[in-house]
Amino acid sequence: MAEAQIIDGKALALTIRTELSKKVAAIPLKPNLAVVLVGNDEASLIYDRNKQKAAQAMGMDCEIYHLPENVAEYELLELISQLNNDTRVNGVLVQLPLPKHINTQNVLMQINPEKDVDGFNPYNVGLLQANSPKAMVPATPKGVLYILKHFCSDLSGKYAVIIGRSNIVGKPMAALLLNQNCTVTIVHSKTQNIEKIVQQADIVIAACGKPQVVKADWIKDGAFVIDVGINRVDGKIYGDVDFENVCKKASYITPVPGGVGPMTIAMLLENTFDAFIRQNHLDV
Ligand code: GUN
Repeated sequence: MAEAQIIDGKALALTIRTELSKKVAAIPLKPNLAVVLVGNDEASLIYDRNKQKAAQAMGMDCEIYHLPENVAEYELLELISQLNNDTRVNGVLVQLPLPKHINTQNVLMQINPEKDVDGFNPYNVGLLQANSPKAMVPATPKGVLYILKHFCSDLSGKYAVIIGRSNIVGKPMAALLLNQNCTVTIVHSKTQNIEKIVQQADIVIAACGKPQVVKADWIKDGAFVIDVGINRVDGKIYGDVDFENVCKKASYITPVPGGVGPMTIAMLLENTFDAFIRQNHLDV
């Protein structure tokens, strides 16, 4: 069997960002994204700076609100209220994970659903489950779906297995694929015989945060493999998939880095633009 086609997420994301920047240039105001970061987690700091750079490069405004690690929950809730009420702000995003003393669900519920560009507020979670076009869809699974649709003419009836059940990727990914008429299974750390289940899949989405656990013998010949993992080991970044060997079985595969990651930022900017359009009752 020929080696898999390696999907260039960077190039795909660049196309999306170029199109989006033309739309941003055509509107009279700049969409504005507020990013809230609590504490000094190195990875989160890098992610948020990258989001800010990408937003600014596209002609959007983006401010990072950096709060100390020991901030009280009510202070964080108060900042979100202020951002909700600030008509200049179109999108509000709170970087996760939050410190242990803060209740994440309280924080996500505080974000105005119309500004919830991460789609983590339970109101948007519900809209996605209900297959509503009004749902704000979380950026990473939205980017994964974009890739799948771009390279796969018909998802209907395909068997998708998602490895990982997080609120950020696994669960919304399952809802998105169900809404595309896929048959969907989520496997996770307590699932028995994971590899037997994954071996049946036409589409494999690895989002479990464990370096290179998905091996070539888990993969059906010709499967579409998407790797959402970002694992840092001894200063090097690895995905959740054993890329070198899985390449020999899959038809398509996303690399790490340069696969899903760049798509996530592009989708976040798209959500911010959409939020701006809806809040201003524009039709683009
Ligand atoms: N932490 C890891 N992924 C994400 C994400 O997509 N959004 C936010 N806010 N935090 C994250």
